[in-house]
Amino acid sequence: MLRSVIAGTGSALPRRAVSNAELAETVDTSDDWIVERTGIRNRYIAGDDETTASLATDAARKAIDAAGIEAKSIDLIILATATPNQTFPATATQVQDALGCNGCIAFDVAAVCSGFLYAVGVADAMIRAGSAKRALVIGAETFSRILDWEDRTTCVLFGDGAGAIVLEGREEAGDKPRGVLATKLHADGAHNQLLYVDGGPSTTRTVGHVRMKGPEVFKHAVVNLASVLSDVLGEAGLTNNDLDWLVPHQANARILDATARKLGMPKEKVVVTVDRHANTSAASVPLALDTAIADGRIKQGDLVMLEAMGGGFTWGASLIRM
Ligand code: UT7
Repeated sequence: MLRSVIAGTGSALPRRAVSNAELAETVDTSDDWIVERTGIRNRYIAGDDETTASLATDAARKAIDAAGIEAKSIDLIILATATPNQTFPATATQVQDALGCNGCIAFDVAAVCSGFLYAVGVADAMIRAGSAKRALVIGAETFSRILDWEDRTTCVLFGDGAGAIVLEGREEAGDKPRGVLATKLHADGAHNQLLYVDGGPSTTRTVGHVRMKGPEVFKHAVVNLASVLSDVLGEAGLTNNDLDWLVPHQANARILDATARKLGMPKEKVVVTVDRHANTSAASVPLALDTAIADGRIKQGDLVMLEAMGGGFTWGASLIRM
């Protein structure tokens, strides 16, 4: 059976790390509040010379090296972001040019924090349909550029970064095939106003700033994620006991704990990077995945669940055997 197998992963962070204590020098907040309510201790903030495209390109190069392939062999690039370098052209085309795989399909997807899951779903479908053989799937953000640094309810929560995977179409046989086993994606536009940006080219002609009704997003996140996780497991004919790792969107340590509890996953099997990276939106899942592969936790053959929920609302999960 043709499967989309993860052949390599990579990630990139801006140079500058910003601790809660440093933030508290300019924002009316404290390390205690941020750690207790979110689990965040640190985030990375892009400098003027660091952009979504440059971080994405760095992460992509590392994923390509890890896969041991030539960039020229990539025939599809999907980049998930809510903070593109420009409104158009797609940031994916800038990454493509930097990598030198000009000519292949390249586009961005906008599903905010769930963007990477959407990108994996689309890439997997295109690979299985025969439209591509080797895809670069990237989540990259410079959310710091759209934060209102006077709004303490949002600006302490987010950070910048990028993560990438190479997905390769391979014929897999046997009872434990590698690759993407099942993906489920959802959106519900009735909740646009709970997490959004208050600007855009067609309305205000500006970029706008992030606005969020945090406690309401929190409640929806736990319910929606629990539901989509059980749907994906059901579709694959597996149970939570089969899972080796949960790699969740890193929005808030309390959401990670609640989701893991609902899924019956012990804490040791949940990859947590929110303390180091904060919420990097579309970059958070691939950043966490690459972190756990690089430190030796996630190994080939492991059954891994990726999940995310974000603005729209959008949410989704993908079950992958590494
Ligand atoms: O990535 C997309 C998905 N996003 C999420 O999943 C985020 C979901 N939501 C959350 O993670 C949490 O709701 C937050 C971390 C955003 C907020 O935590 P909370 O426990 O829900 O706090 P709250 O909004 O109910 O605020 C509690 C108090 C308020 O003060 P009063 O009204 O009780 O006096 C806030 O004004 O904490 C205050 N507060 C702060 N205090 C210090 C809010 N932000 C801060 C801050 N520092 N940065």
